[in-house]
Amino acid sequence: MTGGRNFSRAPRNAVGNTTVLMAALAVGSCWSGIVHGADPDSQIETLMARMTVEEKVGQLNLLNDELRPAKSSINPEANRRQAEELLKEIRAGRVGALFNGVGVAGGLRAQRAAVEESRLKIPLLFGADVIHGLRTVFPIPLAEAASFEPELAEKTARAAAVEATAVGVHWTFAPMVDVARDQRWGRVCEGAGEDVYLGKLFAAARVRGFQGTSLTAENALLATPKHFAAYGAVAAGLDYNSVDISEQSLREIHFPPFQAAFEAGALSTMSAFNDINGVPASASPYLMTQVLRGEWGFRGFVVSDYTADKELILHGYAQDDQDATRLAILAGVDMSMQSGLYSAHLAKLVGEGAVPTATLDAAVRRVLRVKKALGLFDNPYRSLDPARERRDVATPEHRRLAHAAALRSVVLLKNDKQVLPLPKTARIALIGPFGEDHANLHGPWTLFAEASEAISLQDGLARAAGGAATIETVKGSDIDAPLPGGIDAAVAAARSADVVLLAIGESERMSGEAQSRTEIVVPPAQQALAEAVAATGKPVVVLLRTGRALALHGAVRDASAILVAWFLGSETGSAVADVIFGDFNPSGRLPVSFPFESGQQPYYYNHKSTGRPYRAGGAKEYTARYRETGNNALYPFGHGIGYAAFQYGVTRLSDSNLPWNGEVTVAARITNTGRVDGEEVAQLYIHDRVASVTRPVRELKGFRKVRVPAGSSEEVTFKLTRQDLQFIGTDGQWRAEPGLFDIWIAPSSAAGDPVPLQLLPGS
Ligand code: NOJ
Repeated sequence: MTGGRNFSRAPRNAVGNTTVLMAALAVGSCWSGIVHGADPDSQIETLMARMTVEEKVGQLNLLNDELRPAKSSINPEANRRQAEELLKEIRAGRVGALFNGVGVAGGLRAQRAAVEESRLKIPLLFGADVIHGLRTVFPIPLAEAASFEPELAEKTARAAAVEATAVGVHWTFAPMVDVARDQRWGRVCEGAGEDVYLGKLFAAARVRGFQGTSLTAENALLATPKHFAAYGAVAAGLDYNSVDISEQSLREIHFPPFQAAFEAGALSTMSAFNDINGVPASASPYLMTQVLRGEWGFRGFVVSDYTADKELILHGYAQDDQDATRLAILAGVDMSMQSGLYSAHLAKLVGEGAVPTATLDAAVRRVLRVKKALGLFDNPYRSLDPARERRDVATPEHRRLAHAAALRSVVLLKNDKQVLPLPKTARIALIGPFGEDHANLHGPWTLFAEASEAISLQDGLARAAGGAATIETVKGSDIDAPLPGGIDAAVAAARSADVVLLAIGESERMSGEAQSRTEIVVPPAQQALAEAVAATGKPVVVLLRTGRALALHGAVRDASAILVAWFLGSETGSAVADVIFGDFNPSGRLPVSFPFESGQQPYYYNHKSTGRPYRAGGAKEYTARYRETGNNALYPFGHGIGYAAFQYGVTRLSDSNLPWNGEVTVAARITNTGRVDGEEVAQLYIHDRVASVTRPVRELKGFRKVRVPAGSSEEVTFKLTRQDLQFIGTDGQWRAEPGLFDIWIAPSSAAGDPVPLQLLPGS
């Protein structure tokens, strides 16, 4: 907690039977009172008194920005209109916000129509999907999570905010904070992976980065943690599918990253597409009214996901457009994205009394308060400065940050016989569809960047080697289909090289929205290429491009080295080259478990034990395993190596008893037994042996990334209190229970030996 800031009202965050105040932290003192204060704001109230019902509804209408539309669309076509028609609507006060347009000139045109040509002169809010950068593209969020450095994500979010606000955007539809435990789901790439603890840290860091220290600043970008809620839990990893989930999982796994984001100051959120336990999230009073506003005291506004209100009809939950409008607004969706439903039906519903005026007014107040918090009433032309548009986009400083972020995001899974790093004099065969490729460097969700500005693997390697290495680049295969003669050419190149760099994996379009996969594997044509190249006997280093964890097979799994290179953004090639040639020692760790087989999904390290747990190497019959594979991971959550080697000393406790209101220190000594300095991510896990609700086999509760010089040791320490041992009980409340726990400090979720800790009873 930081002093001098206002707190919102008290939600329940119970520990045992004690209800504690969970302080929702506002960013920046000048506006915190506006949004979080209980007192009505006189400027807003004066405005509200002058507004017609239609003008109020206008504030709740978010439409695609037709004045400066993005080059590529990320949503299905719906309710589009011409630019002139949109301007007319703005002048008439029928639009409150625009999205997915960039450019100062277009933004000025739209904002002038609102503040100079409309009756009430209420400024527009400009939103956009700025997910992992604008013109400078940073690694996909999943990749950044692999850094285990939330402060890195805060910096890249800040840089993205600087660029977005330089081109007339006030509001980003990010961060995605959905916990993703099923790698078939394409949107895994947009979040922080499978773990709730890591998810919370990255959610908060990204909000801090986007919003900065004061929301009124020219370069502050309003954040939207999304998709509320449990979108990551869609059945079978199928995008948009239903979610059937326990209250415990919701509150313990899926809600906490949202809470962390709101505590970091986020003032909007997006209602999800999916239904939960039979009620669509975008019509759920439980989610938006009871939990979000009631329990957590959220005072920002809720925007529907794209046409999610209209989709209530196809969910089979609303009869027609009017019914969908009514259900969405009554449940707590303040702003409707693109469907036009509120615009078409809300005024009538209020007129008929089907929607109380107070409900409409509350939604409008929330939107106006956030506009005011952003400083738009004082300066409607904020973030519309042509000088900043020229100066603050694609800067060398942002490129340097993109390079650093890419370096810190790659994860080295294996490195047999220390095949890496390569000498710069090596004869390299760069084989695979991603060697020269420019089209798949950025990753999904880059609406405003130029693919040609990103550095390909080939260019990065050639530049880093400075002419010393011989690099022969052969495509060998297309992403999804064989190339005539491709394998022969690749095999010939491999034969005349010292080492093969095999650049294979997923295209940009294979992850992201609506890109669920049944088989999370390297596409067959590329797998065939890998088998043929490996048969030459040359050492193979896999450079794996992917937006999710994959099940690696055959020659890919058996390669000498595997480097998970995700989608790294603008500086892909230069960063990968620095790792390959040893100019950077990789330090990333997996934020998602790589399973043996696709059919293990949903797979996550913090699963329950079951009554018949399978243990690797143990009994196979009548245990929780598949015929084809044990239910563990090929590379588990938290795994990753570098060019150093680390040994963990035993996990030590300052006391084997933890008093109810006390704390213990957990420590371990980590020794770098390698020949180079390196960074290690020491991870703190717990396991509650017996509880009133079955508990996961392990849960991450902390980590430290430490630099350890070659031949030296570092002591890592953590404090553990009862709060770290809490879980959601059958009553839906946080509780801790006395008893025995296992505690590890370990290099991954599947390594290390635990020590016992006793939580003593107390009150
Ligand atoms: C749909 C996606 O689910 C959401 O994440 C995105 O922000 C909107 N489209 C707007 O483009």
